[in-house]
Amino acid sequence: MYTKKVMDHFSNPRNMGELENPSGVGTVGNAKCGDIMRMYLDIDDDGIIQDVKFKTFGCGAAIATSSVATELVKGKTVQEALEVTNKAVVEALDGLPPVKVHCSLLAEQAIHAALWDYAEKNGIKIEGLKKPKNDVHDHEEDVAESY
Ligand code: FES
Repeated sequence: MYTKKVMDHFSNPRNMGELENPSGVGTVGNAKCGDIMRMYLDIDDDGIIQDVKFKTFGCGAAIATSSVATELVKGKTVQEALEVTNKAVVEALDGLPPVKVHCSLLAEQAIHAALWDYAEKNGIKIEGLKKPKNDVHDHEEDVAESY
């Protein structure tokens, strides 16, 4: 079953919507379930994430993970945002059922995709950031096993 935090973020999603002229946008999806998540980041000259919004066309857990992920990265540096893993997202929600762990992976990858976009637009390299995949179900099984 879902935790109270999941239900809260699903019922009252934080930072839902779009940003005009974002510093970076990332869109990722999972071909298996068909869900899609998009993250918008507004990053200032010091590399601090001033604002973040998301749009998710997906399941309740995907909405909850997007919502909590925006809270985890807001006000952080680019480097700190990179360290927001799907595990951190799951922990912030007090857990997710194993079949829903891939939803949190979408959140991690959507952040990475937005950071990648930001880096490309600004011609910078973010240490430790790998080019994100559009379809993130590839190593879902490995992730599920670690829970
Ligand atoms: Fe696919 Fe939740 S079921 S993102």
